[in-house]
Amino acid sequence: MTAETISGPDVLDVEGFAANVLHRRLWPHQLDVATSPARYRVVCAGRQVGKSVLLAVLALHTAATRRNATVLLVSAGEEAAKRLLAECAGLARDRLSGSVLDETRSTLALSNGSTIRSVPASERQIRGWPVDLLIVDEAGFVADGIWRAAEPAIIARPGSRVVLCSSPWGGPEAFFPALWQRGMDRPDEHVAGWHWPSSVSPRVDAALLEQIREREPADYFRREFLAEWGDAAGVYFSEAELMGAVADYELTDPARLSGRGRFPAAGGLDWGVAVDANALVVASVLDPAVAADLRWRVWLPWMEVHYRTSWSWWIERVVDVAEQFRMRVIASERNGVGAYPTEDLAEQLRRRRTGTHVAAVWTDVRRKQAGFAKIKTLLQSDRLVLPRHPELLKQLRALEFEQLAAGGVRIAVPERAGHDDLALAAMQAVSCVETRRLRDAEEAGAFGPRPDPDTVRTGAGVVVPRRPVPIDSTGWLTYPAGEEAGDGW
Ligand SMILES: Nc1ncnc2c1ncn2[C@@H]1O[C@H](COP(=O)(O)OP(=O)(O)OP(=O)(O)O)[C@@H](O)[C@H]1O
Ligand SMILES: [Mg+2]
Repeated sequence: MTAETISGPDVLDVEGFAANVLHRRLWPHQLDVATSPARYRVVCAGRQVGKSVLLAVLALHTAATRRNATVLLVSAGEEAAKRLLAECAGLARDRLSGSVLDETRSTLALSNGSTIRSVPASERQIRGWPVDLLIVDEAGFVADGIWRAAEPAIIARPGSRVVLCSSPWGGPEAFFPALWQRGMDRPDEHVAGWHWPSSVSPRVDAALLEQIREREPADYFRREFLAEWGDAAGVYFSEAELMGAVADYELTDPARLSGRGRFPAAGGLDWGVAVDANALVVASVLDPAVAADLRWRVWLPWMEVHYRTSWSWWIERVVDVAEQFRMRVIASERNGVGAYPTEDLAEQLRRRRTGTHVAAVWTDVRRKQAGFAKIKTLLQSDRLVLPRHPELLKQLRALEFEQLAAGGVRIAVPERAGHDDLALAAMQAVSCVETRRLRDAEEAGAFGPRPDPDTVRTGAGVVVPRRPVPIDSTGWLTYPAGEEAGDGW
């Protein structure tokens, strides 16, 4: 192509331009947005669906087919802004001769006088440029103030248009969700919306998505790959989820365990300061042979909380309980106040030769998110059985989540709602259960039937022996990761 503004029937429309000039045939879902007449086009999308390619094609099409056009690309961050312009420059290279990227890598100039500017979202850079095409990438992460500064730039130019693209982020009043909802509910020549889960891409295969779904927290998968909006904040566990898992089984008092009665278990600890409580929750796996449906399930045989006790007393107590069960691993928080007692506990366990490994874990936003997501996944698949323990249930009910602007989800019991020690200790204990091995064993039919007549039922109808029988193996135990939170799950 020449240095001039590109024209001609096969290249004027965006489809022909992409295919014949850029040698990039748009996928149908991209074409749908590219050819829409709506002035505001709003896409809520998952990962790897071709957002960047679409935005680059649209930017180049506007710049190449009009003289002196200005395209403004706004991205959530500096890096993203550079990457998006690099995508444009990459597509233009050798195909739009005379396209020049300036040395700051923030402007691509074409020889017809058109420019594509790429800026990170900051008001100072955005104000005051009339633009023909305004593109906002990851718009859900762009503050409303920035959007208000950027939007007037299109008013002055006849025929000017806006494209907003993002994964689902932002509360209902934020500009991106509001415009997207409007475009989905009532698409017209002003605003149109599209929903692109990752599966719309012909490149993303269902098997890979399934793998990702299995290994990632449910809320993350839902947002990043299904492109679905979760609530921005709210109660983490639903009442139905929790009560569906509760059964009136008997807790296993470790003092009554001896010899052959001892069984493999994992512990989770939450250390308290001053008024806080020290909590220990024990997790184990029910013998699938006694379940009517031969499925493995995690249950909590024991838990205890002590207020205002000294750490040295509490450490002694934990060591006793570890010994009374065959406790293989205890996940213990080593940030906050936990650093010293975690070390001391490990030392005491070594001295008593209980064979218990202390997994010193770092409880940050990610670990809590992954840990509670694991509990949620277990609850939703009827794989976790909870005791009717009022304090534990109260704390689990009180857990709230909140989406953070930086990504991720904060999960906590709000200050006004009281303690969270048992909920956290339960999260730590359950984090020690390696569910993949259990699933494999179950699929291999490794568990044979051995029905128990004295049973109780969970709210969801799962049958559990009144005196739960643990699985006699330790293959399901895992050692949760420490500092490198997020792996090992
Ligand atoms: N129309 C197309 N034809 C062929 N390949 C394409 C097309 N659109 C996108 N791709 C390819 O699909 C992959 C994902 O595209 P792209 O980077 O645009 O997606 P994205 O939604 O921006 O991804 P991310 O979520 O990682 O930002 C890339 O390898 C890209 O080259
Ligand atoms: Mg991209």
